[in-house]
Parts: sequence; structure tokens; C-alpha cells
Amino acid sequence: MVAVKTPLMAIHFDPTNLSAAMVGDKHGLTQQEVADSQPAAFEALSGFKQSVEKDDYGFPHLPFKTKLIKEIKAYAKSVAGKYDTVCVVGIGGSALGAWALDCGLRGPHPVQKAFSTKNPRLVILDNVDPGFIHSALESMNPAKTLVVPIAKSGATAETMSVFLIVHDWLHAKLGGSKAAGRIAVVTSENTGELKEFAVKYKLVTFHIPKNVGGRFSVLTAVGLVPAALAGLDISAVCKGAAEMTRLCWLENLEENVALKSALLHWLIWTKKKKSIQVAFPYANRLWGAAFWFRQLWAESLGKVKKDKKRVFNVGQTPIAALGATDQHSQVQLYREGPNDKVYSFWAVGKWSESGKIPKAKTGYASFDYLAGQSLSKLIDVERLATAASLTLAQRPNCTFTLDKLDAWHLGALLQMFEFQTAFVGRMLEIDAFDQPGVELGKKFTFALMGREGYDEYKSEYEAYEARRAGVKL
Ligand code: PA5
Repeated sequence: MVAVKTPLMAIHFDPTNLSAAMVGDKHGLTQQEVADSQPAAFEALSGFKQSVEKDDYGFPHLPFKTKLIKEIKAYAKSVAGKYDTVCVVGIGGSALGAWALDCGLRGPHPVQKAFSTKNPRLVILDNVDPGFIHSALESMNPAKTLVVPIAKSGATAETMSVFLIVHDWLHAKLGGSKAAGRIAVVTSENTGELKEFAVKYKLVTFHIPKNVGGRFSVLTAVGLVPAALAGLDISAVCKGAAEMTRLCWLENLEENVALKSALLHWLIWTKKKKSIQVAFPYANRLWGAAFWFRQLWAESLGKVKKDKKRVFNVGQTPIAALGATDQHSQVQLYREGPNDKVYSFWAVGKWSESGKIPKAKTGYASFDYLAGQSLSKLIDVERLATAASLTLAQRPNCTFTLDKLDAWHLGALLQMFEFQTAFVGRMLEIDAFDQPGVELGKKFTFALMGREGYDEYKSEYEAYEARRAGVKL
């Protein structure tokens, strides 16, 4: 198999190490197996296209919503200079996209440039750990904080509780009218009480389209409002995603990276029994995207599937690993443990910094072979070395390479993964866009926190506790 070169798109997919020629017939794919399955890929493409044309799913349209992009930029401009912290309150799909963008374009938090009103930091409150929320509030100045509560349902317990605390904190420190000017809500237009709250308190509000689920919402106001407020180039993000969208509709596996990679991942997963996928970026700035991808893949493709004869469980567990760091933590398992994984390396073609290593020799062999070389070469070599060592142990792996890591390429990468996920969902014949598996836990939480209307879940929970009480192990 040859690497897929996409001349118009600067994300390249190299599936060579998924082939049987590299990792053996038991773990890799033959050209015949791929050729035989191509109709499934084209069916997935046309089936998904029809659903999008019917407006069932909205994410492919998002990069083209120039009016919204302009409105978000205008809002960001109108408040620029007034805050040094953007505080997102959201969870899951309402938090991970903003993190993927911020981490991708400005770096992981501890090593970002010092924050200021010119370079506001992003603080994402995506948990209800009381110590975490306490420390976050202590670290923020209410007079210089812009709060962005994000919830599509307008009812998520984690987001509502933390937002109540942050709202109260703003009110106590600034007073009601000033506090209202420091909040921008992102929620659904016609559902959920966060919207009603926003109307009541006259808060600036951006809406999430009905046909875009949380994990597919990075290019709605969910990801774009925090990104624009943090000063990121959201137009470039959307332009990259728009170009990728164009390619994702092509009926040509050599140009459509999302479709080709969906087909090969689906085959490796289902035919070669690789029940785990390791998303392995070799770039700290892609670490946020790896966590975003983990949710996308897990929540979209982990489902109960029913056909006429039986009910069974489908899913491929996504793991996020960081190269080269996790070579010293995970690769022992990856090379010698169970051969149940497929590895997806994410590489950067041209680094913006080379990380030159000083030329001067020290007289010590462990240092001197490195002298005058660069970290960019070292990290690439480490990735190639890891891919080779996994391949020689018959572990199937592939590589996505971004020509460079900037807003355009990041937008393209995220959009490519969303299409890839949607295509694999079609090939598996499951609904990649719902998440019934998280509902019961949410309902138990409502019941146990005393929310009205959840008594039946309280009784169900109590029955479960009663069962536990009788068990000894
Ligand atoms: O992808 C999803 O749909 C979920 O992860 C949601 O984003 C998450 O549960 C948060 O939901 P909400 O935005 O309603 O608070």
C-alpha cells in the first residue's frame, strides 16, 4: 500500500503499516481485503450525505457559517482588553473542543505565555471537584474574568452547579449589572433552562444548532466563542475545516482521507480484532485534540447494537498517548502486551521551532552525538523508531501528518476526525450521534440530588443499593 497523498489538503495519511505485508495476515490488511470492502465505504459516504442533506446532522455545514463566525468575532472585539481570563463552564463536548483549539494553537497551559488582557488565558471548569473549583476561583480576578457557561441541554448538573457558584462569585464581587456584562452564554435556542436564565438576566447568548451534538460542536459557538475570546484565529480554523469538508465528500479514496482512514480503521477493528485504538500525537500541542478525539470516538462508536437476532455491544476503546513522553510509560505494553490495539500516530511535518541543540561538544558520548542537531529531528526520529519497532512486532499502525500545526490545519484535522467517525458509524450500522449510555447515570444524579420528577430513578437506585447491601466478596 502506498501513502495517500492529497495534493490539495495538507493532512497526509500513511496506512502502510496497517498492511499484511508489514504486520502479517493475522494483524494487517491485504489489498484484496481492502478492495473487497470498498463498497462499504462508498455506501457510508452516500448514506451519510443523504442524512446531511435532510439536515439530520449539521456538523459538515459549520465551517461555512460565515455570519456566525463574524458575529462571534465582533463580540470578541467588543470586549477585548477588558479581561485576562476566559472561564469556560462546561463538560464533555461542551469543554473539550475549546481545549483542543487552545492547546493546539497556544500550547498546553503550564507552558503558555504569561496571561494578560492582551493574551487572555482559558480556564476550563469541566469538573465538580470542589478543590479544583475553589483554586480556580482563587486564581481569577472577577473584574478581569469573562465567564462562558456552555450547555446544549441547559441542564447538565455539573455545569449548572459550577455556574451557580461562579455567577454568585461574580455578583458578590462586582454587583448585578456589572456581573451580567461579564457573561456570555452558549446554549440551545429553544430548549433548556440555561436559555431562560440568560433571558432573565439579559445575558449575551449564542445558540447551538439542534442538529449538532456536543462532541461534534467544536465549530459552533461551543468551541468558537472561547477560542475567539482567547484571541485565536477562528476564521483560519474554519477555512481549514471547510477545505477538509470539500475533500470529505469526494468519492475517491485517494483524496478523501477521512473515508480511507475510516475504511481501514473499521477493517482493522472488526476483521483483525483490534478493540483498542491508541491516538498517539507526537506534539504536546495536539494533546488537547487527543482528549477531544477520545470522547468523539468513544461516545459516538461505543453502542448497544440490535439486529433481528441478537443484541450485542460495539466499541473500540480510544486511548490518548503522547509521544515521545509515553514511550517511557506505555510502549513496553504496546509492543509486548496483547496484540489488540491499532496505533494512530499524529505527526507535524514542519515545526515552527526547531529546538536547536547546542553544537559544543562535552567529551561525553551520551551528549555529543546530539550536539548541533535539533529537538524537531529527535521527536520525528522517535516517532519513526516507535512505528518501526511496533511494526516489527506485528502491531498495526498508521500516521496522520499535518504539514504544519496552525489554525488552518487544526481545523482541518478536527473536521476530518468528525467525518471519519461518522463514516465508521455508518459502516458499523450504529447511530454515532446519540449517547443513551450516559443518560441513566445523569438521571440517578438528578434523583440523588433531589431534583423534582426523578422519583422513579430514586427508587431504582435504592433497589440497587439494597442489592449491594446483601453482597459480600
Ligand atoms: O457529546 C455529547 O453530547 C456530550 O458529551 C455532551 O457534550 C455533554 O454531556 C454535556 O452536555 P451539555 O452540553 O448539555 O451540558
